[in-house]
Amino acid sequence: MNIHGQPHRSIEADHAERIARIIDQTLLPHQVEWRDLQTMEDAAEAIQVMRVRGAPLIGATAGFGMFFALRDDASDASLQNAYKILHATRPTAVNLRWALDRMKRIVSPLSIESRADAAWHEAIAICDEDVQTNHAIGQHALPLFSAIQAKKADPTTPLNIMTHCNAGWLAAVDWGMALAPVYQAHDAGMNVHVWVSETRPRGQGASLTAFELREHGVPHTLIVDNNAGHLLQRGLVDLVIVGTDRVTAQGDVANKIGTYLKALAAKAHDVPFYVALPVSTIDWTITDGIRDIPIEQRSTREVTHMPGLNAEGHREEVLITPAGTQARNDGFDVTPASLVTALITEHGVYEATAESLKRLHAKL
Ligand code: MRU
Repeated sequence: MNIHGQPHRSIEADHAERIARIIDQTLLPHQVEWRDLQTMEDAAEAIQVMRVRGAPLIGATAGFGMFFALRDDASDASLQNAYKILHATRPTAVNLRWALDRMKRIVSPLSIESRADAAWHEAIAICDEDVQTNHAIGQHALPLFSAIQAKKADPTTPLNIMTHCNAGWLAAVDWGMALAPVYQAHDAGMNVHVWVSETRPRGQGASLTAFELREHGVPHTLIVDNNAGHLLQRGLVDLVIVGTDRVTAQGDVANKIGTYLKALAAKAHDVPFYVALPVSTIDWTITDGIRDIPIEQRSTREVTHMPGLNAEGHREEVLITPAGTQARNDGFDVTPASLVTALITEHGVYEATAESLKRLHAKL
């Protein structure tokens, strides 16, 4: 990923200091500020207040959090305590649990003296693998994009791609999931255009996806979330592609609130609805997403207030409701497998069915 033309990852390891550095996403798009993570508490706080967010990046950050805890105290009690604190930061993205389990599996059998070193290398490995994984997701999605483009009545017009929330490099270590094929298609000379839905209440589409696409030079248009059905109905969308925080063993998909409505509208208008994910996002322990995926309940202040820059260029938050209005803020929703055209993973493209996912599981 490039920021102001310079290559970066959204989390970077400082090998000399053995600390991690993140872009504070709560300040984007107006300010690009790097922030050091030096302790387990720093990592937990960054995940909790969404300085980092997006399922794979949450997992990668938790890996460093585990290292910091073990650097300070490599006992079993410290490991368990770090696991508990980091795991409690956000409930829906299963990559968090996946990363913590992976760290625990690696360090638990080791002597106390060698644990911290091993944890550092494992946290780095999670990051490096994430970059390769997401690149592979892009490569598997590209032929789908090309096939849809080739079938258009006028293939010289842009391929209109709709996405929701941010499943780009800011949600991962690099590339992203839903946006990996967009970047790769654009770089290969394909004429792509992205409909970016703003993603109320936190506005990850408006603030993060629009920022990323601008940095990469990909043509895009911001819409309010409620505009999606209208565009799909008018034939102005060729495909929808989103990321996910948790997929069940039968292919149900949890993603940012509002994803389900887009999937319904895409189905009604016969537009493909793709979900891009690393296999670490599949929770093999559950099947029924509506019943079993925990949905994060967030502060209602995010609904009743809107943040932005004021005329003086200072951050400000304004109340948009009558004082005391009751609100509700579900962070995610679940799209049933029946609405998903395909799941695009680093191992290839799979139908969102239990049988198909069983075949994927057998490969791992
Ligand atoms: O609340 P967020 O910003 O962490 O939610 C992020 C999303 O919903 C992304 O679409 C999801 O993590 C997929 S990207 C891996």
